[in-house]
Amino acid sequence: MDFEGRQVTPNSNAFDHWIRSRFVELNTALETLYWQQQDRGNVDGVGDELKQTLLQEGNALIAALLAEGNTDEGFDSAFDLLGNVGLFMAACRRHDITEPSRETVSPLRDASALAMHIGASIGVTPRFATAHLTTHNRAFNGIYKRFTSLDSEKLFVDYNTKGILAYKRAADALLKLQALGISHPIAADLLKVCACALEDVKASNQELFARLDTDEFFYQVRPYYKPYRVGSQVYRGANAGDFAGINVIDMLLGLCVANDPAYSQMLVDKFLYMMPEDQQILRDCMRMPNYLDAFLAAADNSSDSQWFQRNLALFLRACDCHGDTAIQHHDQLVAKYIAVPAGAMEARHLDKVTASGPPLPVLLGALEKLRDRRCAAVRSDIRTRHEDIARLRTLLTERSAG
Ligand code: HEM
Repeated sequence: MDFEGRQVTPNSNAFDHWIRSRFVELNTALETLYWQQQDRGNVDGVGDELKQTLLQEGNALIAALLAEGNTDEGFDSAFDLLGNVGLFMAACRRHDITEPSRETVSPLRDASALAMHIGASIGVTPRFATAHLTTHNRAFNGIYKRFTSLDSEKLFVDYNTKGILAYKRAADALLKLQALGISHPIAADLLKVCACALEDVKASNQELFARLDTDEFFYQVRPYYKPYRVGSQVYRGANAGDFAGINVIDMLLGLCVANDPAYSQMLVDKFLYMMPEDQQILRDCMRMPNYLDAFLAAADNSSDSQWFQRNLALFLRACDCHGDTAIQHHDQLVAKYIAVPAGAMEARHLDKVTASGPPLPVLLGALEKLRDRRCAAVRSDIRTRHEDIARLRTLLTERSAG
């Protein structure tokens, strides 16, 4: 049994205990050593004994779990164990104990075998994903799983969790509106919930931006989110976008469409990084009609109706809020914590900066396009809903617009 009475084997309990205690101490001690150097990006030849201890202790606990085989304690325990194996593998990558461009197969053979066994059996990628650290990270006595005990890491994970949960609230409201339709008397309530939840995302991003130290994040937190190899394949790093809600909002508002190749490529790539329940939501959502088209279709006959005016104003507010959160993510968070410090980093470490793997300018260009779709900006090179949103704004009478 674990602390809360769920069935888990003694081996997985021992591993969980190690991840929550010794693992955190070892990573934190290594971070302290790296931080003291002139070149903070360097990990080579620093803390070698600590690295060996991390490797040996982790491998021994994992070997016991692998030998135990499938003990079928259900989805939650399997997902949790996969997260623990993944945290160990990500820490080995962070300390350069493993390095995907140096190897063709992960040297963490037992960890890879266990991760692949679990990942394939529950239908997720065989590495740690965002949900393991945020929405599905159980706290005991106020402490949830982390790599280190550094305040900057806690701040980052806390605000990722807050942001994701708020986006999920907005997405839930939009999903519920599918069954009611935009003219339903209660549609306004759901559109308000959506806009308020997106305001919460904005407030939480703003606090993160004000409180998180750039260098601490860049040198001590972000490196745990690098891609790593499981077996022979390299899996991209986790990012806060690996949940369905953000794309549910994009597509149901109508700001992004699933038949835009760049956008659908991103959806295809992220499926296995999400919880199975999120995979299902996203799949369903890709077949649903969007509200922007619904308002445009209703405009000719209903633009003077009370429901149209009230609900359109709320819909446009939700779109504006969604655009604002995207601008904030790109122009504040990504710029301050990734783009600017990457410019100052020693060139030899630069190829390992992002979580997804592509070179930084390519990643930044893709994120900028996402931002511009979400805020319906004017762009000639990609499709945005700028003109459609502008047309809907002209239909608002002054009272509803105010
Ligand atoms: C210090 C704070 C943050 C930084 C530096 C940051 C940076 C990034 C970067 C660079 C990516 C691209 C993936 C990659 O790394 O390869 C990304 C993706 C994403 N992040 Fe963040 N992020 C931060 C916080 C957040 C928060 C709080 C949220 C809110 C839930 C969020 C939501 C997303 C989403 C949804 C994506 C997927 C791409 C998209 O759909 O826009 N991020 N982030």
